Amino acid sequence: MTEKAKQTTDRNAITATNNTVVSFPNEKIYSAKPYALIIGINSAIGLALAKEYSITHQVVGTARDINEANHNFTLVQTTYAEIDLPELYETLSGISSEYNVIINCIGLLHNAIVKPEKSLEKLSERSLSEYFRVNATIPALLLKTLVPLLPKKKPSVFASLSAMIGSISDNKLGGWYGYRASKAALNMLIKTTSVELSRSYPKTAIIALHPGTTRSKLSAPFTKNLPEERLYTPTKTAIRLKRIIDRCNSEQTGSFFHWSGNKLEW
Ligand SMILES: NC(=O)c1ccc[n+]([C@@H]2O[C@H](COP(=O)([O-])OP(=O)(O)OC[C@H]3O[C@@H](n4cnc5c(N)ncnc54)[C@H](OP(=O)(O)O)[C@@H]3O)[C@@H](O)[C@H]2O)c1
Repeated sequence: MTEKAKQTTDRNAITATNNTVVSFPNEKIYSAKPYALIIGINSAIGLALAKEYSITHQVVGTARDINEANHNFTLVQTTYAEIDLPELYETLSGISSEYNVIINCIGLLHNAIVKPEKSLEKLSERSLSEYFRVNATIPALLLKTLVPLLPKKKPSVFASLSAMIGSISDNKLGGWYGYRASKAALNMLIKTTSVELSRSYPKTAIIALHPGTTRSKLSAPFTKNLPEERLYTPTKTAIRLKRIIDRCNSEQTGSFFHWSGNKLEW
């Protein structure tokens, strides 16, 4: 048996529909805790948030490959492709009819085909499309798909991890065109959604969060010369972000928060 297959059979209960695989933790926990959904639970910050939220919430996470996960939360595998999102919704609503916290942790800074562009001449359609697809389009379609999982009559938060670098008014350094622009687009999508939902979901806050420079696969190539005190552990970042989310109410909908809790200019 391959290692991957072994990991799959090790998980307690796996159900599969067309595209979605769900893995439940080994210990079934029956509790009255509210549900929190971490989109991108295999991200460094997402997993740290899941651990923090598991103290107060029943945590469900999504990932592209649940066999890569070495933790024991309820996991839902998805491609995030538009065509698979209705099925993702069905699977998540089958686990819980409502989630009072949803956090999107997906983000792309570099991969085999993209790396941050230092100058205009490095721009390409392929690279810009990939940045916008992962950092703005997928999060926007997830918002569209998953908002019905938020309770209408109780307080709830939909937070998306953005980046201060996506603030247009804060852009003094330039560079990193695709990442900056796609996070700025994400910010606008968050803000616009917050305006629309303030009527239909009056108790919900739709917010963007800047986590601060945090040790992860995403940040690793760019943090070698950073002093230790300016590079935060995922746990430290998760504690800070949870504090902001937990204190957030619908009056703060449409805000962009720095990890310190201060509001950032868009
Ligand atoms: N770390 C920092 O210093 C820092 C600073 C500012 C903002 N942020 C933001 O914080 C968020 C979490 O980042 P992280 O540092 O925890 O990074 P990470 O550990 O590298 O996680 C990146 C996440 O993005 C997902 N992802 C990457 N490419 C994808 C694709 N093509 N399609 C779908 N999903 C994709 C990954 O999904 P899989 O697990 O399925 O691969 C993973 O969940 C990101 O939005 C990032 O922009 C991070």
